[in-house]
Amino acid sequence: MSLADRIGKRGDDDGTPTLHQRFASRRDGAAEPAAPTSAAPTSPAPTSPAPTSAVPVSGTPGRRGRHTERHTYDPLADVRRRAHQALLDLLGPKLYDTVNSDEDLEKQVRDALPDVLAKEEGVLSASDRATAFRQILDEILGHGPIEPLLRDPEVTEIMVNSWDQIYVERYGHIHPVDASFMDETHLRRVIDKIVSRVGRRVDDSAPMMDARLPDGSRVNAVVPPIALDGSALTIRKFSADPYTVDDLIRFGTLTEQVAEFLRACILGRLDVLITGGTGTGKTTLLNVLSQFLPHDERIITIEDSAELQLGQEHVLRMEYRPPNIEGRGEVTIRDLVRNALRMRPDRIVVGEVRDSAALDMLQAMNTGHDGSLTTVHANSPRDSVSRLETMVMMAGMDLPVRAIREQVASAIDVIVHLSRLRDGSRRITHITEVAGMEGDVVTLQDLFAFDYRAGEDEYGRPKGEMRATGLRPRFSDHLADHGITLPPELFGRFGAVA
Ligand SMILES: Nc1ncnc2c1ncn2[C@@H]1O[C@H](COP(=O)(O)OP(=O)(O)OP(=O)(O)O)[C@@H](O)[C@H]1O
Ligand SMILES: [Mg+2]
Repeated sequence: MSLADRIGKRGDDDGTPTLHQRFASRRDGAAEPAAPTSAAPTSPAPTSPAPTSAVPVSGTPGRRGRHTERHTYDPLADVRRRAHQALLDLLGPKLYDTVNSDEDLEKQVRDALPDVLAKEEGVLSASDRATAFRQILDEILGHGPIEPLLRDPEVTEIMVNSWDQIYVERYGHIHPVDASFMDETHLRRVIDKIVSRVGRRVDDSAPMMDARLPDGSRVNAVVPPIALDGSALTIRKFSADPYTVDDLIRFGTLTEQVAEFLRACILGRLDVLITGGTGTGKTTLLNVLSQFLPHDERIITIEDSAELQLGQEHVLRMEYRPPNIEGRGEVTIRDLVRNALRMRPDRIVVGEVRDSAALDMLQAMNTGHDGSLTTVHANSPRDSVSRLETMVMMAGMDLPVRAIREQVASAIDVIVHLSRLRDGSRRITHITEVAGMEGDVVTLQDLFAFDYRAGEDEYGRPKGEMRATGLRPRFSDHLADHGITLPPELFGRFGAVA
């Protein structure tokens, strides 16, 4: 009698669904206090009504309770755990030996797995065996339960809070996922595998780590003792095929007119600052705007962790280097900006300024390296000015506040601010000109702003779009010097915007 049959005898006896389908239907129907709104790709859709009797429904169990519950739900988990352990015993360190080529390892695992699963003969139906086979391959050759999520193009972010709690972001919304690692050790092995590829490691002495997957996705891992409830992993996925301006227009992030305007700003060598909160799409927009940079200019990019994918030929890429285990050898963004100035750049693109590098970036923009691009984490265009001010102060030069503000006012020409709206969409909500100084204050004027007045449709999506405020930019003359004339109707007034 197969395990599926045995479970059938426990009460939910429709006989047809596989173990995994039963598992999925239970989890979807009864077990999770917050049921996922979209099923994870690993979990087939439930085929029978959720049996509630066999599953203890608790409100919000403590962590210990939650861990125990998971084990009860996934009947294949035990099979996978035994098979995984048997493979570890059989293939030993080869399993996680990075020297081994992936194809070689895959062949060995594929050869050994049928025998290992054969030992489970009595308890597995054919389809359970196929499911277990694929999951074990994912666990060992790939990245365990997150492997299907990595392959899913709809998923933009994967958040592993602990071995048994995974969330993803789809279309701007966060959902829990019906999948888990086998245990903390399994999650740690996957983390080790990711970071060892870039020659790093995470352990007690270095419990935080940034790394990248081969496809360019950005990974952050935090392990105990810093992570209190077990290791955590956050993956920001980047498509191998970067978003283009047409994609962003299609997503509603900006309009065609705004795209044209920003293109003119880039070609006209204005210094552009992209601002927004965490995950609002700053780096993505920086990448898209960088695609407007002329092909005959020498571009130097400086990043914390290389995310930009520029299409131009003449590009030099530099990346921050963290200190080594003895705390030496750090190369900061500030060092890189200074060095870039000696490399005859036409344009400098800095992924994000977040510390004293701001001083060097502003100085670079003010000393003939115009047409540079960067991003700053800020809640509004005005906020970005005070953030820059604070960051410059971090350089410890004891500059008077007014002098810093003058630097900001003369360095930055345009601020492009992004927000994530209530419907999960990422949109440009302000394009603001840095007009100069009035007294001690940096003057900002919005050229375009998102029109919230149009309200929302029945799905909660904002109906408005970016509209011109009616103010003409003062840098029009500067653009004209570069042979760029902006049509006056681009700035046609539509009324006061919020
Ligand atoms: N305009 C957009 N429309 C839809 N999705 C987007 C858009 N821009 C970015 N994304 C997605 O949102 C996620 C975050 O994007 P991105 O890394 O550019 O944000 P960020 O503001 O730079 O984040 P951080 O503050 O962490 O650096 C990515 O997965 C990306 O694919
Ligand atoms: Mg970013």
